[in-house]
Amino acid sequence: MANPSLLILPGDGIGPEVMTEVRRVIDWFGAKRGLNFDVSEDLVGGAAYDKYGTPLHDDTMAKAQEVDAVLLGAVGGPKYDVLDFSVKPERGLLRLRKEMDLYANLRPAQCFDALADFSSLKKDVVAGLDIMIVRELTSGIYFGEPRGIYPDNEGGRVGVNTQRYTTDEIRRVARSAFELAKRRNNKVCSMEKANVMESGVLWREEVQWVHDNEYPEVELSHMYADNGAMQLVRNPKQFDVIVTDNLFGDILSDCAAMLTGSLGMLPSASLGAPMANGRPKALYEPVHGSAPDIAGQGKANPIACILSFAMALRYSFDRGDEAARLEATVEKVLADGVRTADLMGPEGGVPVSTSGMGDAILAALDASL
Ligand code: NAD
Ligand code: IPM
Ligand code: MN
Repeated sequence: MANPSLLILPGDGIGPEVMTEVRRVIDWFGAKRGLNFDVSEDLVGGAAYDKYGTPLHDDTMAKAQEVDAVLLGAVGGPKYDVLDFSVKPERGLLRLRKEMDLYANLRPAQCFDALADFSSLKKDVVAGLDIMIVRELTSGIYFGEPRGIYPDNEGGRVGVNTQRYTTDEIRRVARSAFELAKRRNNKVCSMEKANVMESGVLWREEVQWVHDNEYPEVELSHMYADNGAMQLVRNPKQFDVIVTDNLFGDILSDCAAMLTGSLGMLPSASLGAPMANGRPKALYEPVHGSAPDIAGQGKANPIACILSFAMALRYSFDRGDEAARLEATVEKVLADGVRTADLMGPEGGVPVSTSGMGDAILAALDASL
């Protein structure tokens, strides 16, 4: 049987730096666990714009549709801020999400014991935290029409974006959340602003409908998203699975990142409908961006991207066992005090560069055999 295929899109800024370490981890699984992938690499974001004048070449889009999974680093950077929206690096990522129809973005936030002291919150608030944010990823205000910047009637301008959700869009992401909850602690909290937005009212009603008709055994609660942001920092362990829209999910997941210690720790999986082989269409990427402030300095934490590959092992390649090995290895390395700069607190540790963290993880993978 052919090896499973993996398309790697390192992107911009720290994207290629963290992806170099992921490539080493992928090679390790080939050499030591017989898990071989057909890996191809291509450009996305600013890197693609520089070469092709577009943040995602049609050939790359076509390749992404064919492979078993896509792994992406990060896109964007100040150099591209002046570009028109249609060719900004971020459009490349948004096009991948939209055309692959990756509607369910799984953003787990787990606080490893070794980092419980390091979070900006008190240790007892975050120790043992394990929550899953399910962010709707292909609709809402990110894609709603009309959008644009237009002249207004007073000689000024008006900026327009439209929040729009259909019944089907809400129901399918709600199902993803309930399915995940069944395999976790059986609790879903849905977040919107039903107090001020019609789309929020529909969101709440449709999530409730899916619950009542398909998942009555799962505990469901609803919360306004502003309160949700507050509750996430007040008492995050009250949550198991959170399901929310595209924009709220973007913001709440960055907030959840700090519960784990650093944005450099948070992986994600963006999943769509099942392909012919029964596995979902999928793109895996860290939650963080291209971090222009530290790019090119060997400071980036590669763990979010490495854990994104672990999610690929679990959700695309049916190797939950090897995903667990990789996650446990990362936890072990952190417990040993190995720290990239973003994880370095007053209690100290062994300071390492991006590749130093890769070295430590590879050594610990060897030790896991
Ligand atoms: P960012 O996530 O790039 O950085 C925010 C802060 O977190 C920075 O201080 C950065 O140094 C730090 N950080 C992020 N990842 C880190 C890591 N792995 N290790 C250590 N520190 C890390 O967000 P931003 O600065 O708001 O955005 C920069 C660019 O990235 C923008 O162009 C934005 O559009 C883009 N972006 C892309 C993605 C993506 O590709 N998925 C996600 C978010 C932002
Ligand atoms: C993310 C990013 C993206 C988003 C940008 C880069 C398009 O912030 O993946 O969290 O807003 O979805
Ligand atoms: Mn974001």
